[in-house]
Amino acid sequence: MGKLWQKDYTLDSLMEDFTVSNDYILDQQLVIADALASIAHARGLHQIGLLNDEELAGLEQALAQVIKLRGEDAFPITKENEDCHTAIEAYLTEQVGEAGKKIHTGRSRNDQVQTALRLWMREYSVKLCNQTGRLAQRLVDFAQLHASIPMPGRTHMQLAMPSSVGLWAASFAEELYDEAQHLMQLSWTLDQSPLGSAASYGVPLPLDRQFTAEQMGFTRVQNNVLYANNSRGKFEAMLLDSCDYIALTLSKLAQDLILFTLPEFGYFSLPKHLCTGSSIMPQKKNPDGLELARSRSALVSSCAMRVKSIIRSLPSGYNRDFQDTKEPLLAGTKATWQLVHIFLTMLDGLEVHPQALRKACTAELYATDVVLKQVLEGRNFRDTYKEVGLHLDELTTLDPDKALEERTSIGTTGNLGLDEDQLFISLMQNGCEDILKSFSDAYYHLCGIEDVQTVLY
Ligand code: ARG
Repeated sequence: MGKLWQKDYTLDSLMEDFTVSNDYILDQQLVIADALASIAHARGLHQIGLLNDEELAGLEQALAQVIKLRGEDAFPITKENEDCHTAIEAYLTEQVGEAGKKIHTGRSRNDQVQTALRLWMREYSVKLCNQTGRLAQRLVDFAQLHASIPMPGRTHMQLAMPSSVGLWAASFAEELYDEAQHLMQLSWTLDQSPLGSAASYGVPLPLDRQFTAEQMGFTRVQNNVLYANNSRGKFEAMLLDSCDYIALTLSKLAQDLILFTLPEFGYFSLPKHLCTGSSIMPQKKNPDGLELARSRSALVSSCAMRVKSIIRSLPSGYNRDFQDTKEPLLAGTKATWQLVHIFLTMLDGLEVHPQALRKACTAELYATDVVLKQVLEGRNFRDTYKEVGLHLDELTTLDPDKALEERTSIGTTGNLGLDEDQLFISLMQNGCEDILKSFSDAYYHLCGIEDVQTVLY
């Protein structure tokens, strides 16, 4: 079967290449979501008498087969098909005849692609939240293990104040936790069904949108049919923004690690199997993974920007421009997923060198502490500050462990917040697991297959 809209002419081949572009390849990633949504839609049509029992059963069986085939990488979509929606309808018509020709009743590819994307993004947001929580947890463990190892605190990259490996690592854990929360909140926004909004203006059929939403495990319907279509691209941008915050954090972590694993610093090192070599310089052990983490974070930002640029000046209702938001959505989300996982691997391999860290804690690092000690003894801050500043060469070298212990016992530096982080992160992860379970339960009720997922990685 050719295009769904094929009538009495053939599309110019250059125009076909231009309009289809690589969408039919990207659509492989939406096949499972689309098949699930199609079952929900078929049930909706059956409910209002537009499909009989036999037709519904045939469609459900064929759509479950689509899901299985896709799982085996064996559901082809051709350029002539244009997209997964056409390929699926063609397959249904081939398998069950008449009923296949009825499934598109009351829907448009516009709400169809929206629903498939919504299912995909909803699942991705919760999965990424869960994995980001795992990474935050990993950083908490790392921070706990190295809580009291002294480390120079830097501002402007210059020596600033005493810090610890624990404080450094836990800062990233908390940051990632906040970013995972952002995703969690977004997953609620994504949890509304656009199905039934059709081309952008609904249809004159008594479709029960609440019913189809429930079938797919959505908590609610995205009521305004025009908004349901206008939110295409916007929700993608929101998701990519959430990804971008995570990627920004990991880019900073990458940059810190690039510096601190330099032989000149030597605070940490990465094992050889996580580094690459040079084709000419035999001594090289390069942190390419960390460098690419920085550039991939730029990619994620650019994907978010690309989507926003595409939708910025669109008039209300569906416009084909929306199709071009799919590529940055899939590229940016994949890159973020990989970033989170590559850092889980790198943290597992990261070695800490306490002696180098202690050695780096030179006398000037404690200048402010010296001032504040005198303030506690009754002197005013500014005069003391000036005096110490004018005689920096008189600062005496301290035992960094003792100095850190003293500082953390009376001040704010030692509160790493690890217990709280641990608790909140594990609550968040349990929440994610429950939500993911509720999705796969809904999918099981739709297609009778266990552990169906719309995001295939
Ligand atoms: N591939 C298209 C997209 O992603 C599907 C919707 C096509 N709709 C249309 N009215 N041409 O937007």
